[in-house]
Amino acid sequence: MRALMTMVATTALFGAFIFVVWMGATEVVNGSLSGGELGQFVIYAILVGASGAALSEFWGELQRAAGAMERIVELLQMQPAIRPPAQPLIIPPAQSRQIHFDDVTFSYPSRPGKAVIKQFCLNINPGEHIALVGASGAGKSTVFHLLLRFYDPSRGKILIDDIDIARADPRDVRRLIGIVSQETTLFGLSAAENIRFGRPDATQNEIIKAAQAAHAHTFISQLADGYDTHLGEKGTRLSGGQKQRIAIARAVLKDPPILLLDEATSSLDADSERLVQMALERLQQDRTTMVIAHRLSTVVKADRIVLMEDGNIIDIGQHQELLEREPRYARMVQLQFASSSHQGSDFPLSGVQDRPAKSAVPSS
Ligand SMILES: Nc1ncnc2c1ncn2[C@@H]1O[C@H](COP(=O)(O)OP(=O)(O)OP(=O)(O)O)[C@@H](O)[C@H]1O
Ligand SMILES: [Mg+2]
Repeated sequence: MRALMTMVATTALFGAFIFVVWMGATEVVNGSLSGGELGQFVIYAILVGASGAALSEFWGELQRAAGAMERIVELLQMQPAIRPPAQPLIIPPAQSRQIHFDDVTFSYPSRPGKAVIKQFCLNINPGEHIALVGASGAGKSTVFHLLLRFYDPSRGKILIDDIDIARADPRDVRRLIGIVSQETTLFGLSAAENIRFGRPDATQNEIIKAAQAAHAHTFISQLADGYDTHLGEKGTRLSGGQKQRIAIARAVLKDPPILLLDEATSSLDADSERLVQMALERLQQDRTTMVIAHRLSTVVKADRIVLMEDGNIIDIGQHQELLEREPRYARMVQLQFASSSHQGSDFPLSGVQDRPAKSAVPSS
């Protein structure tokens, strides 16, 4: 459109110019027009013509902006499937929260036939630490998605402090929940801005305090511009452990009563692992916590372990109990945790027959 407009405008301009000069020259030769008058007219014509050309350019810009705006408007007008009810219930303020999964069954909208969570019943007491364990695809992350209300269950309901989250404003529900996930999402902003994402109105001082609690302060201070250092798109300038500690600092800053942790499967080196672990432990104090556990140290410390298989809970108990009565758990501990835990040697695996060789390696 723009190229076409420029072409038409240029042709019209020069066509008119040549036409006028030719007409004027004829008149001057005939003696009905003076040379000065022709000159005056030509100057006016150039002024008008140039303005017309500038306007056509402007029209082209407008067309481009309209094209981009159309997509923005499309996004703005998109209606989410999960909307706050007309009269949302208010969740009363409290220090720590109780969570209750009441017979929840769920299948993802893209695969309606296949239930990913089946008759999931679980009551989590205020301040309790729950570890979710199960094979890949068992539905552990899906439990988090439901609690964060990214989806509504097909059957059953989820209650926080006896309030059905489907009847509350999703924003209120999410305000209660802090999450540190497997993959940390960082933005192409400074370190401070990335932490501030946890609570946009936080002051610089609060950000530094949160970073200290997350054991992130030391490495951030050593960056070129400290807290103002640009972290690069998706935080490409940080290591895995550093990204995780930024995510933990966000959660510390948010200070939520409910904490969801999805432990990273990719193992960090022993030193960053220790720092991340220390930061997480501090974060979990006095909060109702659900952890998707990939480390032995986490399951050992949890108040209760929920063993999942194919969307079902197959057992709930403490580490020692489960090791003794649940062969599937013992097997999983052997296969999954022992090899991924740097602290393997600190925790006895009594009850597991073939003690895995790796757990006997002293942690560095
Ligand atoms: N958005 C989605 N749409 C359709 N199916 C999905 C979706 N997300 C997950 N699933 C399916 O749901 C099941 C449970 O997935 P989920 O992510 O909860 O597993 P998980 O227990 O967290 O596994 P992992 O330990 O590998 O993270 C899987 O079979 C998966 O294929
Ligand atoms: Mg998962």
